[in-house]
Amino acid sequence: MKRLKKIHEILKKEGLDALLISSSANIQYLTYFSGFFNGERDAFLVITKTKNYLLTDKRYSGSLGDLDEFEILDEGALRTLKSDFFKKNRIRTLGFESKDLKVYEYSLLKNRLKTKEVDLDYVREVKEDAELQQIQNACSLADKAFGFILKKIKTGISEQEIAFEIEHYIKRSGQDISFSPIVAFGPNSSVPHHKSGPKKLKKDEIVLIDFGAKFNSYCSDITRTVFFGKADNTFRKVYETVLNAQQLAIDKININARLSDIDKTARDYIKREGFLNIPHAIGHGVGLEVHELPHVSPYSKEKMVENQIFTVEPGIYIENWGGIRIEDVVLVGKNGPQLITDSNRSLIEI
Ligand code: GLY
Ligand code: MN
Repeated sequence: MKRLKKIHEILKKEGLDALLISSSANIQYLTYFSGFFNGERDAFLVITKTKNYLLTDKRYSGSLGDLDEFEILDEGALRTLKSDFFKKNRIRTLGFESKDLKVYEYSLLKNRLKTKEVDLDYVREVKEDAELQQIQNACSLADKAFGFILKKIKTGISEQEIAFEIEHYIKRSGQDISFSPIVAFGPNSSVPHHKSGPKKLKKDEIVLIDFGAKFNSYCSDITRTVFFGKADNTFRKVYETVLNAQQLAIDKININARLSDIDKTARDYIKREGFLNIPHAIGHGVGLEVHELPHVSPYSKEKMVENQIFTVEPGIYIENWGGIRIEDVVLVGKNGPQLITDSNRSLIEI
């Protein structure tokens, strides 16, 4: 199987007898099984040169389906690691996910065998066609949710109610949310990661909505900022600047172009127009996780590769006034950028 082959190549390259895989997203990526509780340690994978083990417990026995490539050990994921499992499988050097394994889990291993830190996340960075299809579906669902939510914006509704309506819409369609929606009214929108609260909407306020749908486990992420009332000149100027910054950045997307250039283009434009530096990276990959590789920031070293998919989300945030962010999911296509989210990007007044 193509995905497991990538892991076998890592074993060879890193001189490992086996690799312990602990993160939910990587376990799902390799097994295609989405039923483990996210963030719980209900499963580990141990991939050796000759065998692929799925360590779990009996709660999952009936639900795993066809996992032909894996030998399933269901004596308890962590307990199996404590047994003579490594000896039996002649594992002397074990790689582990340095970004994921907990200190406690590492302490169970470190005195028993040689360990090596490995960063695995890049294996999911370039998407397969079937994955792109799921992300496209996730983006379409988010677009539909945005259309639905515009009709709910009215005087007196709270940030939390809008967030709930988004979640309800997505879940009613049989799917899930990528993260708790960020809904921010008025000056609250100057906080990029505002926690939706009880604030009720008043006339002439900014409404920033940042959310994502997950379709068959694959995430989308979109932000729109609309004006509740008649937009004044300040809102218009800031909106136009963010939209121009986003478009200039999107225009930089091309195979072999630098990821850092996307960030730089938007950042420099916003500064040139007299606004404060963007207080976050311009974007991030999406996939099984809502934030995954590639990083799209001033520090990105890589060049773009066909079928990477990431957000482009510049923003301007002004304390005590508010913020405007516009976020879309864009694919690095054969012939340049391909916008995957499709909601209206022009200024909306409600
Ligand atoms: N859309 C939320 C974030 O990317 O952090
Ligand atoms: Mn985002």
